[in-house]
Amino acid sequence: MGVFIVFAMLFMQIYTIRATVPAVIVFGDSSVDAGNNNQIQTVLKSNFRPYGRDFFGGKPTGRFSNGRVPPDFISESFGLRPYVPAYLDPAYNISDFATGVCFASAGTGYDNTTSDVLSVIPLWKEVEYYKEYQKKLRDYLGDQKANTIISEAVYLTSMGTNDFLENYYTLPNRRSQYNINQYQDYLVTIAESFIKELYGVGARKVSLGGLPPMGCLPLERTTSFMNGNGGTCNTNYNKVAMAFNGKLSGLVERLNSELPGSKIVFSNPYPIFEQIVQKPSSFGFASASVACCATGLFEMGYMCDQYNPFTCSNANTYVFWDSFHPTEKTNRIISDHLFKTVLSTLL
Ligand SMILES: *[C@@H]1O[C@H](CO)[C@@H](O)[C@H](O)[C@H]1NC(C)=O
Ligand SMILES: *[C@@H]1O[C@H](CO)[C@@H](O)[C@H](O)[C@H]1NC(C)=O
Repeated sequence: MGVFIVFAMLFMQIYTIRATVPAVIVFGDSSVDAGNNNQIQTVLKSNFRPYGRDFFGGKPTGRFSNGRVPPDFISESFGLRPYVPAYLDPAYNISDFATGVCFASAGTGYDNTTSDVLSVIPLWKEVEYYKEYQKKLRDYLGDQKANTIISEAVYLTSMGTNDFLENYYTLPNRRSQYNINQYQDYLVTIAESFIKELYGVGARKVSLGGLPPMGCLPLERTTSFMNGNGGTCNTNYNKVAMAFNGKLSGLVERLNSELPGSKIVFSNPYPIFEQIVQKPSSFGFASASVACCATGLFEMGYMCDQYNPFTCSNANTYVFWDSFHPTEKTNRIISDHLFKTVLSTLL
């Protein structure tokens, strides 16, 4: 009995030591950007009030929400800092980035032509920044420690909405080249080479993020209202999101069998997000159809400014912060759900 307890304790100790994630490393768009766009020439920014009014210190960081975004909550759930700093933010350096760093850029997508629309950071350049980060990390910590961080870190990726809403359905170019099914397949091939490239430079634990029910974003409801459809969700966009999620999920399965030693998971926000949008009151929300900021119908970025008299006083009663982005409360519910159901398996 005594021996058993000693063994059990020893085992638990080893398990506890092994079960740590040293860093959270983030790629993607505004769903996860922590402020990289502040440092580049683009109109797509949010480093001013009322953005960030519920963040630590009420600080507008460039996150597209009233507070934290999912990687912040996920980092905290892994026992790390309660936020993940942006790589281009001059307030942080490699000693901060050793436990988490965000390369995401609002407005970007898998497709190079998506990041061109608002002159934001293309995915390939996020990866270039990541490689530069690896070099800095090795200089700072030495090869061995840096390599451990690189292989044990959790990589969070979240993008794709802009490829459809900002690019494919807004501009004529991709629509003339691909039907919607072909365009999804094109994006999946990019996602595949992206993950393989991360794997090739040492990443092992990757979460590929899926799309939300993007037809239910307040902006899409407003468009539906203008088109005489009564402000309901755009069911076509939701179908596209679900189809694309199905393909990403298939990709994850394939990659796990192709890449030895990898642990790749599909983090699908769609089902929980759909529940929130369909029954906001059961999550404590009063409104899911209009956003908190300004009229809540179409504003985001510079149009969501602190002088707008319509902005709501308590963002916690709204599912959406601006016409395109969830409130901190929604981000927390989704992050906690994904952590419990999927991401904790990366421990
Ligand atoms: C990072 O910044 C902190 C202060 O903000 C400073 O003390 C530290 O020396 C810097 N580290 C490196 C590696 O530059
Ligand atoms: C995107 O652009 C980069 C840089 O020009 C290029 O290396 C990459 O092949 C392009 N990706 C695709 C899928 O065309």
